[in-house]
Amino acid sequence: MNTRLYYLISLFALLTWFPHATLAQSNHAKYVGTGSCSSSNCHGSVHPVKGLNILGNEYYTWSKHDKHSQAYTNLQKSDAKRMTSLMGLGEPTEEPLCLKCHSTYVPDATMRGEKFDLEDGVSCESCHGAAERWLESHAILGATHQQNLDKGLADTVSLSKRATLCVSCHFGDSDKAVTHDLYGAGHPRLTFELDTYGALQPKHWLVDQDYTSRKASYIPLAAWFTGQTRLAEGVLARLSSPEQSKNGLFPELSLFDCYSCHHNLSEEQWKHRTYSGSPGRLHLNIVPLLMLQASLGGINTKISEEMAPLVTTLHKDYQQTGTTEAIAQLRALTSERISPLSSALQVTPDLCQSVFRSLATFGSKIESPKFEVAEQIAMGLQATLASSPQLAKKHGAAIQKIFATLTSSKAFDPARFTKAIAELANAIH
Ligand code: HEC
Ligand code: HEC
Ligand code: HEC
Ligand code: HEC
Repeated sequence: MNTRLYYLISLFALLTWFPHATLAQSNHAKYVGTGSCSSSNCHGSVHPVKGLNILGNEYYTWSKHDKHSQAYTNLQKSDAKRMTSLMGLGEPTEEPLCLKCHSTYVPDATMRGEKFDLEDGVSCESCHGAAERWLESHAILGATHQQNLDKGLADTVSLSKRATLCVSCHFGDSDKAVTHDLYGAGHPRLTFELDTYGALQPKHWLVDQDYTSRKASYIPLAAWFTGQTRLAEGVLARLSSPEQSKNGLFPELSLFDCYSCHHNLSEEQWKHRTYSGSPGRLHLNIVPLLMLQASLGGINTKISEEMAPLVTTLHKDYQQTGTTEAIAQLRALTSERISPLSSALQVTPDLCQSVFRSLATFGSKIESPKFEVAEQIAMGLQATLASSPQLAKKHGAAIQKIFATLTSSKAFDPARFTKAIAELANAIH
């Protein structure tokens, strides 16, 4: 993931100032296929079209620049074939496990329209929902967003619904996951953060004044916090699921911190590592919970204080007795208190300042942070900075220094990261 690229993108965004069940949002309508969207007077223009309130070149942007359009064709390549062959499965292009995330997965052929084409990969309707019932009406001049939603257009404006959608493939859900078997066969590591990945997706929409008046404004910190909440819910759901947390006799290994077992990042990293008291133990892979806990320090200290002992107990219990009470308590805390908080987050300059401080302080205190944690902290700081011109002006250069330590997981040196983030933490007060 190119975090530096993102840094540039969001600086640009700041200068110009500018928001269950995923495919199931279809309401039993047919998937009409991307070919129904791509006509040049709809979404298929090569350049943005003047005089429309949308860009008009969405199809072109998606097909030329957006990796989602390659999601299926990448299954035809040798890397993908090697994965399924190592796992004893058939062709990846016919394997539901792969198709669920790499295509608009509509197994029931009667729900596919004439122009439906599996090769389109993750296409318009993967995100915007089956279009049969709104295809015609949404193009009529004056059709409102609400009218389109009423006809079954999926709501991708609501950050909470958007997070559920993206996380369903970029982390997985009850129906699909990248398991350790699949990682072992060579699948790239999944990592996700709603604001960063939203900024990295080649933009086929523009959050300008017209967009804001039709839909909503977009605040990076709100997106970040909502994304972390959804990811934390995903982690907890997987830990509580009898099917997803086990692989035969053993626990599902992807639930654990990869570097409990694999020390292949760089020699540097693990020789210099300290272990907060328990070397050689398996640690759970719960980065989004740590991110929530750290940011809640600046949003709602009460919840943050309730959360901290539960996260500690979660680790201990899981290692010693396997009890799941802490998981259940954390699930309740996340869904009943944190999730509503994220939907109603009032992002003021003061809130940005306190989240920024909490995240930086948290980051500066972790002993020998792993790349996965460091990367998420940096993305959180960046989303916060991008939500506040004051912070951007004051700390932009310091964030750039932090990102400079994250150019690749192989070259990552935790000491350099800690030094850069400690400088930032000291400069905030
Ligand atoms: C149906 C599953 C699915 C959904 C839903 C989905 N993605 Fe993806 N996404 C993928 C797959 C698969 C890839 C990798 C495609 C490839 O390279 O073959 C991908 C790739 C990406 C990439 C490129 C990553 C890179 O390494 O360059 C970004 C950015 C991204 N997605 C953002 C998002 C965002 C933001 C959302 C929600 C608005 C989202 N995705 C929803 C499946 C999905
Ligand atoms: C839970 C969803 C999920 C499942 C299941 C899944 N993938 Fe992926 N896959 C992704 C996402 C998301 C990415 C992009 C990761 C990124 O760049 O952040 C990806 C990336 C890839 C890539 C790299 C593409 C590139 O751009 O080079 C390959 C190859 C791949 N997957 C093959 C497979 C195969 C084969 C299967 C089935 C055995 C499979 N995947 C199952 C979500 C999934
Ligand atoms: C990976 C998910 C994803 C895919 C694939 C995708 N979109 Fe989007 N699209 C979004 C998100 C997120 C937004 C921003 C929220 C919104 O306005 O609904 C958006 C916004 C839009 C908008 C709204 C622009 C506005 O100003 O109101 C249009 C039009 C659009 N997409 C068309 C398309 C078309 C056509 C395709 C296929 C060629 C496509 N999208 C594929 C996620 C996706
Ligand atoms: C409990 C220990 C454990 C954890 C945790 C773990 N793995 Fe593994 N991993 C293994 C073992 C054992 C193998 C098989 C090694 C062999 O075949 O020699 C393996 C194999 C692999 C392989 C195949 C290449 C190799 O080195 O042999 C990959 C890739 C991999 N794991 C990725 C991951 C990722 C990514 C994570 C975290 C999401 C993870 N692992 C977590 C124990 C673990």
